[in-house]
Amino acid sequence: MNQEDYVPEHAHDTAAAEDAEATRRHAGDAESSRASRGWWDRNADEYQSEHGAFLGDDRFVWGPEGLDEADAALLGPASSLAGKDVLEIGAGAAQCSRWLAAQGARPVALDLSHRQLQHALRIDGGAVPLVEADAGRLPFRDGSFDLACSAYGAVPFVADPVNVMREVHRVLRPGGRWVFSVTHPIRWAFPDEPGPEGLSVSASYFDRTPYVEQDEQGRAVYVEHHRTLGDRVRDVVAGGFRLVDLVEPEWPAWNAQEWGGWSPLRGRLIPGTAVFVCERDDAARGGA
Ligand SMILES: C[S@@+](CC[C@H](N)C(=O)[O-])C[C@H]1O[C@@H](n2cnc3c(N)ncnc32)[C@H](O)[C@@H]1O
Repeated sequence: MNQEDYVPEHAHDTAAAEDAEATRRHAGDAESSRASRGWWDRNADEYQSEHGAFLGDDRFVWGPEGLDEADAALLGPASSLAGKDVLEIGAGAAQCSRWLAAQGARPVALDLSHRQLQHALRIDGGAVPLVEADAGRLPFRDGSFDLACSAYGAVPFVADPVNVMREVHRVLRPGGRWVFSVTHPIRWAFPDEPGPEGLSVSASYFDRTPYVEQDEQGRAVYVEHHRTLGDRVRDVVAGGFRLVDLVEPEWPAWNAQEWGGWSPLRGRLIPGTAVFVCERDDAARGGA
């Protein structure tokens, strides 16, 4: 794959990518994490001003298709959420957590980016508890939460997703549910363009080499990691979870909005989001 083939949606509309060189190369956990923090701190304002209206201040949307947790109930029926301790990972401005709180749940919104969390404060003045931390090192005791969720937060950006799965497993109570969405792995094989040029395969789906934007010194300023669908299933299982469902939201007729490479044209033909619904597999890990 050459560097033009897969260009994440942010590259089309943010200042941060202006001077960065796009390439494909190895990027480890520490470098990926450092790049993500810097990138999201620099770009949180633009992200929220561009996508905030679609996300809604207190809606729970799983991705650009607009699949809404109020309809999908992937965390369980809304009526079952009251009183549940929920960890949202890569929460951004904590829109999903605010919806969870409105159902009577007790959410904690975690994100690596200080600036993203400042947007959460701007929206609700601190009503939802916020934690600034890396998904790979969750600052919570074992068994602190009933549920964990992440809408495009953290998982696509980390070099070691199994470590994140294990951390989520650790902080969940036995039987706890973990639901996360990522870019559908098939998108890696196509140019990330909303128009017809985004419909022709241009690269190997099997090439896991990370997409990296780097500065003049060769330091990564943005990193995105690719896993095949099978890799993601194996990551979930290696982390101690059972995969309960894999949801591939179809593009709904009401949604005319493009979001980077996600568009009605492509959404009608190829999946853009994969939502993994998992449960702590206590039998497989001897109740650990
Ligand atoms: C695409 S945004 C999604 C934010 C929010 N869930 C939404 O739907 O708007 C990805 C978020 O993941 C956060 N993130 C990236 N890497 C992370 C990591 N290693 N640990 C925690 N958060 C991370 C970013 O700071 C960013 O806020």
